[in-house]
Amino acid sequence: MKIGVIKETKEFEKRVALSPDVVKLLKKKEFEVIIESGAGEGSYFSDQDYRDAGAEVSDLSGVFSSDVILKVNIPSLEEIAQMKQGSACISYMYAYQHPEIIEALNKKSISSFSMDAVPRISRAQKMDALSSQANLAGYKSVILGANYLGKIFPLMMTASGTITPAKVLIFGAGVAGLQAVATAKRLGAIVEVSDVRPETKEQVESLGGRFLTVEGAEAVKIEGGYAKEVSAEFLEKQQKLIQDKIKDADLVITTALVMGRKSPILVTEEMVKSMKTGSVIVDMAVESGGNCAISEKDKTVVKYGVTLVGESNLPSLLPVNASQLYATNISTLFLHLFNSFGLIPNLEEEITKGVLITHEGQLVHEFTKNILNSHPKNS
Ligand code: NAI
Repeated sequence: MKIGVIKETKEFEKRVALSPDVVKLLKKKEFEVIIESGAGEGSYFSDQDYRDAGAEVSDLSGVFSSDVILKVNIPSLEEIAQMKQGSACISYMYAYQHPEIIEALNKKSISSFSMDAVPRISRAQKMDALSSQANLAGYKSVILGANYLGKIFPLMMTASGTITPAKVLIFGAGVAGLQAVATAKRLGAIVEVSDVRPETKEQVESLGGRFLTVEGAEAVKIEGGYAKEVSAEFLEKQQKLIQDKIKDADLVITTALVMGRKSPILVTEEMVKSMKTGSVIVDMAVESGGNCAISEKDKTVVKYGVTLVGESNLPSLLPVNASQLYATNISTLFLHLFNSFGLIPNLEEEITKGVLITHEGQLVHEFTKNILNSHPKNS
């Protein structure tokens, strides 16, 4: 069994699917590993590091002779065209947003497994790249926001006067949001948090944040650890609460996600107008439409005196840790799915079923099928 890793081609991407340490582990388990020359550069892993770990370093065509391709980003149509007929690919897919990728994979009978579809269950924690990357991104969102802010986070009493702590408002207390709370608190800010799931109150408070309770939280449906549906009544009440709080905030970090849906707009243009000049919003949900109505994907812009950060790939700004954790996630999933003879034929097993998108020329993933049938363009 040959495992191939290609250099990521997405703009500004610095991560790589396998680290040299993880290559060593796969070699011990008798898998061959081929890495495209330069694939690890962005994460400061040299070709020699991979060779020392036991990998073969090759050009792109050599890597595409592999039985399984491991990637970070959604495979492009050009990449799929070069994969072997009947081979396999594990990477982020967001298949419900990319019907053209599904079609291309099916044409080549490629079995595809999606890193963004790993079920959030204890047994799969080590494979959960969404969480490992969101955790790093939550940290970076605060550091980036702090960098754009013209003031410090902590209370500082000096002979020249007292500086009051910065106020940070965070929407969404999932993986990214909780790491943002912890990071902002460590830097000395006052942190307030809103989430639709009432159980996050305790988690926020244990990190020293203040939870903003919205009446009607019982109207939220939870499935597989994700918020599935939020009532219009809840969102309306939440908007009123945000209107009051946002005027005082120095830094706003938005991480609200409803799985498989366009992100809810929590910060309207009017709210941005009401904010203090010099304040900052980091819209982490910008890739799936944004939680702020006027943030722009992959741009940092100033509107109404507020800096709006729309960085969609925060983990790539921490490529060393991000690649290290992603490599553990993807190799753990790979070892769950494959042995040295090929794909382990137990496709009904919960994790395998959760991540398997296409197989033997068919789209087999129920969640993706349902989304594509109900929202053909996911809009
Ligand atoms: P998560 O599912 O763990 O957390 C999302 C949270 O949002 C949940 O706690 C959910 O209850 C909450 N939520 C849903 N609707 C809400 C509402 N109306 N108000 C307040 N909270 C609400 O997701 P995770 O992993 O923390 O990711 C959060 C977001 O950050 C996602 O949109 C994800 O795509 C994005 N992300 C962005 C990165 C970047 O580089 N910009 C990197 C990693 C994640």
